Amino acid sequence: MSDMSATKQLAGDMNSPAPQHSEVPLGTSTDNNVSSTNNNMSTWAMSNLQKLNVTELYTQQRQSLRPWLDFFNTNQFKPPANIKAGARRLVFNVEHFQTNYFIVIIILSIYCIITTPALLFILLAMGAGCYLVSLKNRESPLTIMNHQIAISQQYLAVFCLCVPLLLMVGAGSAIFWILGASVFVIFLHALFHQTPNQEAFGVQMEEMAPSSDYILEFKIDVFKTLKIVGITTGVLTAIGLGAYYIHRRTQSSKRVILRDEVRNILRPFQLTEEQLRRVMANLNTEMTNGLKSDDTENLDLAMFPTYVHHGPSGQESGEYLVVDLGGSNFRVSHVSIEGRNRMRLNNKIFLIPHSLLLGEGEKLFDYIAECLQRFIDDNKLSLLKSANYKFDLAFTFSFPCKQTSLREATLVSWTKGFSCTSVVGNDVVLMLQQAIDRRKGLKIQVVALVNDTVGTLMACSSIYRDCKAGVILGTGTNACYFENLDNVPKWTGVRDNIHKQVIINTEWGALGRHGCLDFIRTDIDRELDESSLTPHQQVFEKMISALYLGEIVRLIIVDLVQRSILFPGRMQKSPSIRPDYNIFLILRGSFYAKHVADIENDTTEDLSITTTILTSIGIHDPSYDDCYIIREVCKTVSLRAAKLAAAAVAVLINRLNMSSVTVAIDGTLFRHHQQFKHNLTRTLGRLVPRTHRLVLSEDGSSKGSALVAAVDRRLKTAPMTYDKTNLPS
Ligand code: BGC
Repeated sequence: MSDMSATKQLAGDMNSPAPQHSEVPLGTSTDNNVSSTNNNMSTWAMSNLQKLNVTELYTQQRQSLRPWLDFFNTNQFKPPANIKAGARRLVFNVEHFQTNYFIVIIILSIYCIITTPALLFILLAMGAGCYLVSLKNRESPLTIMNHQIAISQQYLAVFCLCVPLLLMVGAGSAIFWILGASVFVIFLHALFHQTPNQEAFGVQMEEMAPSSDYILEFKIDVFKTLKIVGITTGVLTAIGLGAYYIHRRTQSSKRVILRDEVRNILRPFQLTEEQLRRVMANLNTEMTNGLKSDDTENLDLAMFPTYVHHGPSGQESGEYLVVDLGGSNFRVSHVSIEGRNRMRLNNKIFLIPHSLLLGEGEKLFDYIAECLQRFIDDNKLSLLKSANYKFDLAFTFSFPCKQTSLREATLVSWTKGFSCTSVVGNDVVLMLQQAIDRRKGLKIQVVALVNDTVGTLMACSSIYRDCKAGVILGTGTNACYFENLDNVPKWTGVRDNIHKQVIINTEWGALGRHGCLDFIRTDIDRELDESSLTPHQQVFEKMISALYLGEIVRLIIVDLVQRSILFPGRMQKSPSIRPDYNIFLILRGSFYAKHVADIENDTTEDLSITTTILTSIGIHDPSYDDCYIIREVCKTVSLRAAKLAAAAVAVLINRLNMSSVTVAIDGTLFRHHQQFKHNLTRTLGRLVPRTHRLVLSEDGSSKGSALVAAVDRRLKTAPMTYDKTNLPS
């Protein structure tokens, strides 16, 4: 038997059953012959197609599966003698091992799919969809508007629905990866695996090529050359693509391994809905407990009644001074209320020297009085006033105070980095009044003490009648809301038709003081707490507010640096940059919430915003990976804060139990940190199905405080009998 016929036979074996028409000699057919052959072919094809079923197909493929021992036999791997021999091997092996290669492709595909869970999920969903279609059609065919939809069209619809999802989760690159990796593996195997006759038949075939017909031989050579060039180009391109995708995958898996370590550190910061609901339940219980008693030692939440019983009615008027003290600077405002809640505001921000924040209390109040004097003089506010005229001043004082009236408030503790001496336990209204009175010529009477949450609520409720809660998400965090006095057992003041409700200052930042948040607190939270000015206090606030977000991120970064995950080797290799790193790594508070927000929002391809921020705080030339990890840290910490804030707002909304409610919010996190606001809104939507609206309360803490003073003045001059509008429904 010649090698030619051996080849034919091999091919015949692999493709059995051989179609009968291949035996018809070429060039002898007449038209009739052709048509009869075609008829035969179609009859053959039809009959074979009918016979062909999945089992047969499987049996055929099973038969052409070559033994795996042969497939992997390393003795059989040798480089081809030359390009022609290599090309022949490729063609032969691809046909010879076709089933084995098919299985290799399937294994690579399975690997690719199970390492991309989203893809796996959508493919399963697609499978389930097709299964449902087949089930449905078994019962009765699907008909839409009297038009029967074929099952194939239904499958197509399921497929079309899934395609965009598949593309979204990266099916495109997965297909490329499978193609690239398969071609790469198959090409190498087919090129180096010797053919069964140890290449002998290939060489002889070459020798036996007919040499008499020059033109035919030339044509065959051109054809062969084109074929070889084509195959080589295709294969090289495929190898390139394969190598590129394998490189990309190993790169990304390197990143995944890297990120796994980071993830372990970040995992405790990722809160589940179940945990959030537990936070909600604990907060709600602590609120109820706080309304029962004033035992601030043993209770988490103070739930201070504020002596504000009514929102603005629109009848308020007059001019007021407002001092707003709560953050690292304070603001003096002049607010004119011109009826129907129209307000004009003129204000000035004064910086508070750091020494005053931690110094003697009296000095702080003297400084406030001095700034008031400057503000009145600069704005010539006394110009047209009579000699005896006294300004009414509302004091927005954003610290926990136990009030015994609108103008009597004892400071319970400092928060947010303030720690002046001789103020805790004293009446801050009196202290401010005394400081004002010490300045001869300053004619001001303090008429109301207002927490910033209350101001926020009042300013907003002058516009939205269903606004019954005020929240601050800024340097600190807190909330207040209208509560029915029936639900406040500890209230010892007047209870009548006019005083049916009161705004409660919850001081929710203190939640967790007795351990009810321990199940979500991380080591970093504890570290931050221990090194703060107020250890074991304001536990909830320390997980949410702007004053602490930057520090949480900084502590995580320090941890990652110590584990050599961030800036690996840089500290040792470049002693010149150590001082910069040291400032950042050692200095508490050297990373701000603004940095967290800006880095979280960095969508530049090379994370250039992150690089700039890190450089500005002394971390020079951070790598892309460093920036990427730091952005992940910022995102996680900020998301946790937003989720916790949402859980707390959800509790307020539930307690108000109104068909629809507006919550007034102010503070830097809500005002300037878009991603925080987005995460808060989204989480809140999941936690409370009730209709609610979150509204930014512009300048709320100043305008709202003026409104508190104005409502009080109105009620004194024209006492009300019964104000139905302000009751929670
Ligand atoms: C204070 C609250 C204040 C909140 C927002 C907290 O630290 O205790 O009284 O409302 O910060 O400023």
